[in-house]
Amino acid sequence: MLLLLAAVTAHAASAARTPTFSRDIAPILYSKCATCHHAGEVAPFPLTSYADAKKRAQLIATLVRRRIMPPWQPVAGYNRFEHERRLSAIEIAAIERWAAAGAPAGNLLHAPAPPVFDNGWKLGKPDLVVDLPEPFDIPGDGPDIYECFIVPMNLTQSKYIRAVEFRPSNRLIVHHALLFADSTHIKREPRYPCFGTLGLLPTLGIGGWAPGNGPIEMLEGAAVPIMAGSRLVAQVHYHPDGKPERDKWSVGFYFTDQAPVRRVVDVGLASRDIDIPAGDAHYVVKAHFTIPIAVDAVGIIPHAHFVCRQMHGWAILPNGRKQWLLNIPDWNFNWQDQYRYARPIRLPADTRIEMEFIYDNSAANPRNPNSPPKRVTWGPGIQDEMAGLHVQSIPVHMDELPELGRALWGAVMRSVGGEFYRPPR
Ligand code: HEC
Repeated sequence: MLLLLAAVTAHAASAARTPTFSRDIAPILYSKCATCHHAGEVAPFPLTSYADAKKRAQLIATLVRRRIMPPWQPVAGYNRFEHERRLSAIEIAAIERWAAAGAPAGNLLHAPAPPVFDNGWKLGKPDLVVDLPEPFDIPGDGPDIYECFIVPMNLTQSKYIRAVEFRPSNRLIVHHALLFADSTHIKREPRYPCFGTLGLLPTLGIGGWAPGNGPIEMLEGAAVPIMAGSRLVAQVHYHPDGKPERDKWSVGFYFTDQAPVRRVVDVGLASRDIDIPAGDAHYVVKAHFTIPIAVDAVGIIPHAHFVCRQMHGWAILPNGRKQWLLNIPDWNFNWQDQYRYARPIRLPADTRIEMEFIYDNSAANPRNPNSPPKRVTWGPGIQDEMAGLHVQSIPVHMDELPELGRALWGAVMRSVGGEFYRPPR
């Protein structure tokens, strides 16, 4: 109690005085911004010294107030996720007051040392490193590039994946990477442009990477089996930075001998029913799926392109209660994260999972790829739209997994439509 009082008093005192870089601002910038804002990283300038911060104090204050930086899409107050990149209201207020006071340095001798980043493997030496065989060239300008790469892994034995790290050789231009494995050996060129879909049906989703994120670590007891002979499939999003660049990425795999005792299942909601008139600022796409068994939702991955603005996902529990799963009020395709809940969300059998995505195909949407706006329909291309919400779920009783599998398969069959499948009468 005394400690709490002391903290509150100290806090009240700090609210009264003008924040300085050395005492108040550097700790925020170094812990919440410098991961992306340092030399060689994706952000356009470093924030690792007083000079860096002072030069842009006003812009920093504006962007943190509008919560554009640090980039983090889910709105506060709905779900708690791991590794949330969000400033507290106190941190934002400190930055605003500091900028308004002319960005005072304070005593720079007492400022914290700038963080040191090494781009080595975060989890130590991987058990297997898969390198892109040839460097990939990114021109200095032009549109963003979405490239799929298929790389042999030379796995002679099936393995259980415990963790994976994606490591670009050039971090200036990589905006995100999605990793999959394919064990079908259907012939495909080693790389090809791809945007909304991979152009093949992967046998395994491994996970995603975005700037500022660390390795993908599988949940306890849920190592992911990968078959001998699998090929790695990586979709990488490159953003040209004004000069020609090259990248030769690597993926590090960490294996374990521990066979999984549980499995993360992708409970995917999607709709192809998308036909948005030019100029329509509020076009709603919905989908739902009722889970036949109890699961723990451990994470969530949304997918849409540029015209989508709002992503809402929730569950209606059998008792009628609404449980939020994801609320993104201003979707930005450039920040693709795969969200993992801070604590799993229990969804009992017969929970109905619902999604509602809202699209803004008007000229007022700054991210609309068409100017003037054009009709937008479902499709995998940059000019098309998609709607997908993937609830990463672990069955509470693993022996009920087949029941979930059958229900999911039925939904897939209904979505591909009557041309392939007619339900028995
Ligand atoms: C996850 C990576 C990441 C983190 C963390 C991050 N930034 Fe950024 N920041 C970027 C990128 C990338 C850009 C370039 C614009 C874009 O792609 O959105 C950027 C751009 C900016 C800009 C310039 C925007 C413009 O209009 O020119 C400012 C200012 C900024 N960031 C401040 C911050 C501050 C302050 C923090 C911490 C509170 C922060 N950023 C945290 C990645 C990040």
